[in-house]
Parts: sequence; C-alpha cells; structure tokens
Amino acid sequence: MNARLNVAHHLQSITPSAPLALMQKAAVLKEQGRDIISLGAGEPDFETPRVAREAAHRAIDSGRTHYTPCPGEKSLRVAIAAKLARDNGLRYDAGEIVVSNGAKQALYGAFLALLDPGDVAVIPSPYWVTYPEAVRLVGATPRLLPMDAASGFKPDPDRLDQALRGARLFVFNSPSNPTGAVLTRAEIAALGQVLLRHDCWVVTDEIYEKLVFDGAAHHSLPAVVPALRERTVVVNGLSKAYAMTGWRMGYAAAPRPVAEAIELVQSHVSSNACSISQHAAQAALEHADSDIAAMLAAFARRRRLVLDAFAGVRGMTLVPPQGAFYVFPDISAWLGGTFADATALCERLLDEQGVAAVSGSAFGDPRCIRLSYATSDERLAQALERIVRFLAAHPAGRR
Ligand SMILES: Cc1ncc(COP(=O)(O)O)c(C=O)c1O
Repeated sequence: MNARLNVAHHLQSITPSAPLALMQKAAVLKEQGRDIISLGAGEPDFETPRVAREAAHRAIDSGRTHYTPCPGEKSLRVAIAAKLARDNGLRYDAGEIVVSNGAKQALYGAFLALLDPGDVAVIPSPYWVTYPEAVRLVGATPRLLPMDAASGFKPDPDRLDQALRGARLFVFNSPSNPTGAVLTRAEIAALGQVLLRHDCWVVTDEIYEKLVFDGAAHHSLPAVVPALRERTVVVNGLSKAYAMTGWRMGYAAAPRPVAEAIELVQSHVSSNACSISQHAAQAALEHADSDIAAMLAAFARRRRLVLDAFAGVRGMTLVPPQGAFYVFPDISAWLGGTFADATALCERLLDEQGVAAVSGSAFGDPRCIRLSYATSDERLAQALERIVRFLAAHPAGRR
C-alpha cells in the first residue's frame, strides 16, 4: 500500500516549509562538494550568548533535567513578564504566560485555542510561510490581505476593515518576515482602531522585535492600543534575538483563559518545553543585552552591504527593510522569459551560482525572492556578487 495515499485528508492541502526544504537541498549540494552559500535560512549565524550556555550547563549539573510545570518554570515566566513590562510596556503575570517549543508552537497553540474549524483568520500577505499552513492545520481558513511594495508592505487600514468582516482572528507580524517592514506607532494605532470595530482575536508575532534598523522602533500592538489587550495573544521567542534557534524557546502571553487553553493544548501535545533550555532562556533574558547589541551591529552592517550591492541593479525594486534580517526584492522584470517564475529563478541561481534564496511564492508574492543576510560578511559579499552577476547574465524578460 502507498503510505502517502493513506495519510489524513486534512494534510493534503498543507504545503511543506519552503525555507526548510531549501536548506535540505543546499545541504545535499554541499555534501557533494559544491561551494554553496545559503541565504535561505531564517537563522542567526552567531553563537548563543555565553550566559545562556553556562546556565544550561549549570541546569544539567544541578539535576534540572526533569519535567517542569507544563507552561514553564515559574521563575522563567516571571522573567518573561518582567521583559514584557520593561521592553514592551505590557503587564502580564506569570499565570498569563505559556513557554513553548519555539514561537512556532506558541502560534499553533494560540490558533488551536482560538479557532474552530471553518473560522476565518486574516493574514497580511506577503506572510511568513507557517501562518496559513498552521491556520489550515487547525481546520480554519486563511484569508489573505494583500500588501504591496508601494505601501512598504504594510497593511492598509481600509482593506483590513473589509477583510475582517466575518473573521475570527487577525495575524500581525512586525518586524515582518519576509519583508522586513516595521510599522510605526501611528500605523499600528490606525490598524488598532479598525480591529476595535471588529469582534476578533489578534495574534501578534513579535519575534523580530529586537532587530530594527535606521532609527525604526518596535511597538507591541496591545501596548499601542491597550483596549486590545484582552483579545490579543503576544507571541515571542528567543530564536532570533538571542541566536537560540536550536534551544526551541518561545512563549505566548495572553489573558488568563486563553493562556490556560494554550496550556491545555500543550499538556496533551508536548508537556513542558525542554527544562535545560528554560534555564538558558531565563539567563539570556536577564543578562544578554550586550550580546544582542553586538549581533544587531553586525546585522546592520550586512543589511547595508545588501542595499549597496543591489542599489545599482536595474530592474530590481527593493523596499529597504527596517527590521528582521531579510530582504525581499521584486525581481519580476526577470520573470516570464528565461524564468517562468521566481521558483525557477531560485533553482537556476542555486544551480549556476551556488546561492540559495527562497522564492517569494512561498510567502505569497511570486514577484519576489527572499534573501536572509544572517551569514558572515565575507560569504554575504560573495553571494551578492554572484547574484548581481547572475541577474546581469540573464536577459530580463519584461524589462
Ligand atoms: C515570523 C516568525 N515567527 C515565528 C518563527 C518561529 O521561531 P521559533 O519557532 O524558532 O521560535 C519564525 C522563524 O522563522 C518567524 O520567522
């Protein structure tokens, strides 16, 4: 019997994560001896801060290697509450926080807690690949809210108003993956006024909050519009700001009944997140600010490298990202000729130049490609040279 034919129906509409698939393909090519530079992964290339690593060693040596309370150690949740107050101006107590296996699980828990099968969740597009798939996984329906380069990839309040009709939930992500857009306080306030008119939940994914450039500032949605706090889930995690992707540390902060629902889900899916990682996460939250400053300076330098390299590329439109560590250039001038679509272009870029980039199709915009600049300055400079050479060598279809 063909096992593939036998998996549950509800999985048949779910698309695998394109960045993860690309990382696997790039790894295979590397194993074959090819010189591959991956700009595909959403992963900082830095070491996890020393304070976090040392705390993990201490946790192991002192026997903190057993189950913890399902929503996480109380001391970690207290540290997260302190962080939310300090950095974001938000008030949560430890009972309103659930620590999970990465922000991904926190998001999934929030969707399971808030969405019934058939409910509609509004997702601004371009979006992070997981949002629509996770919404589908819980049996709900994603409704995309288109954004474009002309508006800096920011949701338009009037269009949001329309999209929210009959919707149960809104997914918000600033700084954004893949576009790097960071909404100002006034822009968030304008969206907040629209959200207040609708009877819907908000899930705000703030995982890139620390990675903002050029004077941009992150504002947490329920801090800007406090009246939304009672129907908002704040999702965050340590993967990006603290270079702790492998430790799987994320969390949700929500009004108590919602936090309890997320905990209920987690109690049957995974129980607590890794006890050792929890100790590392607490140390990072409390003592790693200087590490973040150093990483931020490196990201700012690399972002400049990318913007400078692409400034002279005729036909490419690039909205300078203000946050996260991605650029999302529009390369549609090259499509329709040699390359049928952005996916074909990315495949050829990998084959010909050994540079891995992700097609914008995975993020809801087939005119673009996503490049992560979370790689060393030297490798990044080489990759940029190769991309510029590649684009120059191919006739641009509609230029
Ligand atoms: C926007 C966004 N949210 C959440 C995550 C999940 O992060 P993690 O599960 O590693 O905490 C990612 C990772 O790529 C992301 O880009």
